[in-house]
Amino acid sequence: MRRSEIGNRQSPIGNSRVLVTGGGGYVGSHVVLALLDAGIATVVLDNFEQGYLDAIAPDAEIVSGDIRNADDVARVFERGPFAAVLHFAGLANVPHSFADPEKCYAANLTGGLNLLAAARRGGVKAFVFSSSAAVYGPPERTPIPEDHPLRPISPYGFTKAAFERVLSDFGAAYGIRSVSLRYFNAAGADPAGRAGERHNPETHIIPIVLQHLRGKRPCIKVFGTDYPTPDGSCIRDYVHVSDLAEAHVLALKALAAGAETASLNLGLGHGYSVREVIATAERATGLKAKVMEEGRREGDPPVLVADSSRAKSVLGWVPRHDSLEAIIADGWRWESQHGQERMA
Ligand code: UFG
Repeated sequence: MRRSEIGNRQSPIGNSRVLVTGGGGYVGSHVVLALLDAGIATVVLDNFEQGYLDAIAPDAEIVSGDIRNADDVARVFERGPFAAVLHFAGLANVPHSFADPEKCYAANLTGGLNLLAAARRGGVKAFVFSSSAAVYGPPERTPIPEDHPLRPISPYGFTKAAFERVLSDFGAAYGIRSVSLRYFNAAGADPAGRAGERHNPETHIIPIVLQHLRGKRPCIKVFGTDYPTPDGSCIRDYVHVSDLAEAHVLALKALAAGAETASLNLGLGHGYSVREVIATAERATGLKAKVMEEGRREGDPPVLVADSSRAKSVLGWVPRHDSLEAIIADGWRWESQHGQERMA
């Protein structure tokens, strides 16, 4: 969609713009597409350490800057006023958060607080936060509802839980209402092929499996085969990134209509083990994978499956890509079309 067409569409949040931090990242870039598709004018702030400039839809306005730097944050707010902030910037990787907790805390907590303070000064009243199932730690029961105890087992999960608390306190004291969206495992790619998953280094299971099946990795390592699950490997709830993106647009609409601060799970409610992911990708591609069994990876809860009924009732969220096959098919198309470019 061209900028002129956006101006002609009726935006669900009125005639104002939103700020998206980390809009060059995996989930952020899909959310920017969904915002623009909904007619919402969007400014992106990204430091491009992990995000990609060419992942951002051309109709978004782009500012290069870092949320850890208060001057960069102040500079982007000069482009306001913003009706809302959608916050994705930060360190989003569990293994890296153990290797470098200082970096994780600086990005996710110091950076987040810089942003929130500037949003408050800038008169922002609505905030959508990219949270995670990592806030729960190993579940006591499954599927996990939002009122399950929060016992994160990684620095990353701790930062997400802590920032949700910061948001709740800012809501009570300053009237900034927020929706924290706790993603389970984001996966897949924009069905129209406009964006996809690109991490460097890649640590997530689905792109690793697809890269192996394309011949770019010698094997797939299965981290942990002795978990208390039917086949011994970890179970996760994979949710299509475009369905996640849609939930952010719905959260903005809900906040614009006066919704209260909430934390909402986003998952499909079905779990797949690592071995089932590999088998599904083999069926989808007609290729055979080479698997190596490894020890457990630090910070991995055995099972994470969402109870997303609250997101359905509060937001009216209905995932449209409700199968692992569909998620893997979109990921495979993206990997087949763009994997070669990324190697160059
Ligand atoms: N895995 C492998 N081999 C690999 C990569 C991953 O066996 O090469 C396994 C992991 O050990 C895990 C499962 O595949 O059991 C899924 O791992 P991912 O790295 O794809 O995703 P995570 O479950 O670690 O990460 C997701 C979200 C995070 C969130 C985390 C909570 O991406 O935001 O769940 O644990 F914090």
